[in-house]
Amino acid sequence: MEIRKIGVVGAGQMGAGIAQVAAQAGYAVVLRDLEAAYLERGLTTIRRSLGKLLEKGQLDPATHEAALARIQTTVRLADLADCDLVVEAIVENEGAKLELFRELDATVQPQAILASNTSSIPITRLAAATRRPERFIGMHFMNPVPLMALVEVIRGHLTDEATTQTVLAVARQMGKTPVEVNDYPGFVSNRILLPMINEAIQCVMEGVATPEAIDQVMKLGMNHPMGPLTLADFIGLDTCLAIMEVLHQGLGDDKYRPSPLLRKMVQAGLYGRKSGRGFYRYDERGNKIR
Ligand code: CAA
Repeated sequence: MEIRKIGVVGAGQMGAGIAQVAAQAGYAVVLRDLEAAYLERGLTTIRRSLGKLLEKGQLDPATHEAALARIQTTVRLADLADCDLVVEAIVENEGAKLELFRELDATVQPQAILASNTSSIPITRLAAATRRPERFIGMHFMNPVPLMALVEVIRGHLTDEATTQTVLAVARQMGKTPVEVNDYPGFVSNRILLPMINEAIQCVMEGVATPEAIDQVMKLGMNHPMGPLTLADFIGLDTCLAIMEVLHQGLGDDKYRPSPLLRKMVQAGLYGRKSGRGFYRYDERGNKIR
């Protein structure tokens, strides 16, 4: 199936990034969120990111303008009806995603593909909320979407070959490298990344070292571009907790138990960069306050 128009549901950091790379790749994009203010924030993120790419000469002015012009925003799900592919990027909550996919299935043209950017929830379970599990797939982008090369592509149990090939081609058209993985909790990326982050949080809780020292060890000693606690703040501590819960429940092994400190910080509303405070503090532009 030829993909011309892509819907993105959720204008947070992931949804905005997905809408941006889709528009840069030449697709018409409809970005949907529940409130105009969320859409405005998403557009600000996109403008800022495109501005940086323009500044650095990684984007020419014409492509910059054309990409912005390709993005339409809406609060109405009905405006996604004629999309060929819809990528869901809402909060990492299974109930919320299931409800959204039921609605999308009833709204979007039947031949269209539905994809989830979930970071850990089983694709087969989400697909079962629709009447098109063969045209349902996982398309897991990495944050920050405009800079990261990977898209994990996850087939559900009933996903068909044509859907997989179409989505692999779309990811390539977006300038990404898709990697196919199977439908297991956390897939590959978060099955490996999140236990490391959880262990770093456990080190803070046990007083092994300060967050700054832990991050320095991993940056300077292992050449990670960001320390695990900076990365946790960047991903969002609420998302980190949600992923650890999925790993813990889905794999049934206590080695995936979320750190009590992670749980407590989420309860306190310390979500990381997006809320202004996590292991570090951030200004309103998301820059770390030193
Ligand atoms: N759009 C465009 N440009 C951006 C940008 C964005 N969204 N974010 C940063 N940049 C630019 C910066 O402006 C900066 O430009 P200059 O070099 O001209 O100053 C450049 O990219 C580098 O940024 P920084 O100097 O701020 O920081 P950095 O050198 O550390 O690079 C990074 C930033 C690419 C994000 C790097 O730190 C990195 O790779 N971090 C790890 C990210 C990672 O692991 N992501 C995966 C998270 S897990 C996930 O997403 C999956 C999940 O399900 C949880």
